[in-house]
Amino acid sequence: MGSAKLTLDDREYELPTVVGTEDEVGIDISRLRGQSRLITLDNGYANTGSCQSSITFIDGERGILRYRGYPIEQIAEHASFSEVCYLLLEGDLPDQAEKERFDHELTYHSMLHEDMKKFFEGYPPTAHPMVILSSMVASLSSYYPSANKEDKLRLNMSRLLAKAITIAAFSYKKSIGQPFMYPQNRLSYTGRFLDMMFSVPAEEYTVNPVLEDALNLLLILHADHEQNCSTSTVRMVGSSGANLYASIAAGICALWGPLHGGANQKVIEQLSMIHEAGGGYRKFVDKAKDKNDDFRLMGFGHRVYKNFDPRARILKKAADAVLEDLGVDDPLLEIAKNLEQVALEDEYFVERRLYPNVDFYSGIIYSAMGIPTNMFTVMFALGRLPGWLAHWKEMRSDRATRINRPRQIYTGATERSWVPLADR
Ligand code: SDX
Repeated sequence: MGSAKLTLDDREYELPTVVGTEDEVGIDISRLRGQSRLITLDNGYANTGSCQSSITFIDGERGILRYRGYPIEQIAEHASFSEVCYLLLEGDLPDQAEKERFDHELTYHSMLHEDMKKFFEGYPPTAHPMVILSSMVASLSSYYPSANKEDKLRLNMSRLLAKAITIAAFSYKKSIGQPFMYPQNRLSYTGRFLDMMFSVPAEEYTVNPVLEDALNLLLILHADHEQNCSTSTVRMVGSSGANLYASIAAGICALWGPLHGGANQKVIEQLSMIHEAGGGYRKFVDKAKDKNDDFRLMGFGHRVYKNFDPRARILKKAADAVLEDLGVDDPLLEIAKNLEQVALEDEYFVERRLYPNVDFYSGIIYSAMGIPTNMFTVMFALGRLPGWLAHWKEMRSDRATRINRPRQIYTGATERSWVPLADR
């Protein structure tokens, strides 16, 4: 354990440091205010660690992403999504017996309580599926009051992983006025979702293995990303003692923002706009650079990755393969690739180290799979669910966890006396 020295005016403060397993060094300021009445200020927490975690490691300079030490490239090539869920939640890959038990849990908890179907009747057909997902997840705590019981944690986490795809598929069926299709236990996790999304009572539906594998990859690549906005939200809400489902519902709402998980929907809307405008992406790149224009190139840039997002690299390759396998020729893919090329050669993007992130290519694959644009962020949430659950579990079991309550620097009016109405 080393230390750092902080000097202010004529006083010096010594602060301990912590070093992680990848030699990251953090200055522990948890006692700073107690010994000095000082606090630190860090808008957006870009330089502030909220916790110590053993779940995911990211090196933004070197484009490294590992879940529990396994590189994302190897996971993407070999894993099933349920194995990744188990790895994130339990800390290691499951053996055969553990995998079978976990897959069984994710299969036999996939039905919703029949009364929960009534919730869907209250939404207009235009309701955004993220509204439905967040409120249905929060409502699960009224059906499973054990959502805060330590000894039922595994059951409630498996329940949520199993039911989330059912809620998502039901929200899609609601939006197109088709009957809900119940989860089929004979199918894989991703096959079950595709069946609930695209099968209809009148016809036999066969899951296309190309779609099943593509969805498996997409869910895996979104599964966790350390202390991003929505995961930090889950940890913050959970730190107050709020139950598991309420904490995850808060994370779903945070993910919905266009600067975070909502970007994948915005990317396709932007690419479509460029396509409809005749494909002239140069003027959109110029718009993104214009300080007086709040237009941004959605799917570009990242708080942590400053060279490349390894997930974007994998998805760019996958987009080519999936569209070819499906025989889909999407002009938006070509526009995306050209946009990336133009941006990567442009001083503005190079100087600010802005590269495509996970959202830049994912929507093109979702579209090719027949998933509507307004479901894209729901797909991100389905992928991120095991990450949120793993962080909630780690936060709850960490004895160092305290209710999250940041401080502030006050910049408002200093003390003044009340002014009666007649004198204002
Ligand atoms: C995700 O945190 C995670 O890990 C998130 C995520 C995960 O897996 O959980 O990876 C998923 O959310 C990916 C990001 C999806 N969002 C977008 O694609 C939206 C577009 N990108 C941005 O708005 C932005 O890049 C962020 C939000 C991703 C990062 O924002 P930062 O770190 O706060 O950076 P910033 O806004 O301060 O930008 C730094 C500079 C600014 O210019 P200057 O003021 O220095 O002149 O870069 C510019 C910005 O204007 N900039 C962009 C830009 N992104 C940043 N300019 C044009 N287009 C962009 N996309």
